[in-house]
Formats: sequence, structure tokens, C-alpha cells
Amino acid sequence: MAQVTSPEELFVHELQDMYYAENALTKVLPQLAQEASDRELSRAFTRHLKETEKQIRNLERVFQDLGETPQAHPCPGIEGIKKEHDDFVQETKASGQVLDMFLTGAAARTEHYEIAAYTGLVSKARALKRRDAVELLQENLRQEKETLKSVESISKRMLKEASNGSSTAGRRSRAGSRRSPR
Ligand SMILES: [Fe+2]
Ligand SMILES: [Fe+2]
Repeated sequence: MAQVTSPEELFVHELQDMYYAENALTKVLPQLAQEASDRELSRAFTRHLKETEKQIRNLERVFQDLGETPQAHPCPGIEGIKKEHDDFVQETKASGQVLDMFLTGAAARTEHYEIAAYTGLVSKARALKRRDAVELLQENLRQEKETLKSVESISKRMLKEASNGSSTAGRRSRAGSRRSPR
């Protein structure tokens, strides 16, 4: 890791961290969309993939604004959340409703992580008087907050369905869950 000795360098370091995390998530989200058998959850993952691609472009614009080349720095935080998912899926062989519930939890943890990261980045951009960066990072932060809200409402609905004796309404067929989402 390069030396970080000033608030500006810390800002760039944290940008590189999120640049890594967002790029990693573009590989994870299509997989989550396939794993989810709940239609609404699968669609939420696909929609957030599109947003994540835009978030990466926003981060690239922030780098350019600072005169920096966009660069990713490995982010163990996001890798940890991903590993937790991979281990759970592999070890428990959970499927259907239980897997969907697990996925909403994993998604909520990811969004909370991103919200914390972008909140810090927006504050730093503001302190460094980088107006364009503030706007771009705020757009990303807004999308993460919206995504968290929709994941939380899906989770609530699932828990209600589970306590009402598991409705299969809105569920994709097992075969359907293996096809790529539309
Ligand atoms: Fe993101
Ligand atoms: Fe996100």
C-alpha cells in the first residue's frame, strides 16, 4: 500500500477501495439475481447491477476531477461479505425461501457497508471543497440508500409470507431460477 500522509491521499485511498468494491459487485450481482427464486428480489439485484455500473462511471469521474487515474485497491470488507455468502451457499445447500432470506441479509449488509463508505467520502469531498465529487458521490449514496430500503421491504414481505405458512406466489420455478434474469 502506498503511503497515506494527508487527508487528500486518504480520500483517494478510500475512492480506490470503493472502486474495487463496486467492480467486485458487478460480478457478484448477476450471480445473486440467478440464485434468488423470489422474482422481486431477483429483479432488485438486476436493477442494482445497472446502478452499480453507473456508480463505477461516477467514481471514474471523481478520479479524473482529482487528476488521478482510476485505480482499484483490494477491499477486504467487501471480500469478507462475499466470502460469507459463498461459504453459506456451499456449506448449507440452502435453497428456495431460506436462501432468498439469506440473500436479503447479505444484500442489506453490503448496502450498509457502501452507505458508510459513501457517507465518509461525501464528507471528505465536502471538506476538500470538491463540489463535483460531492455531487457524484451523493448520487451513489442515494442509490445505496434506496436499494437498502427496497431490500428491507422485500425481507419484511418474505418473513410475513414465511410466518403465514410459506406462499409460493411470486416465486420463480426451480428451472426458472437457473436461467438468467430478464
Ligand atoms: Fe454500489
Ligand atoms: Fe449497493
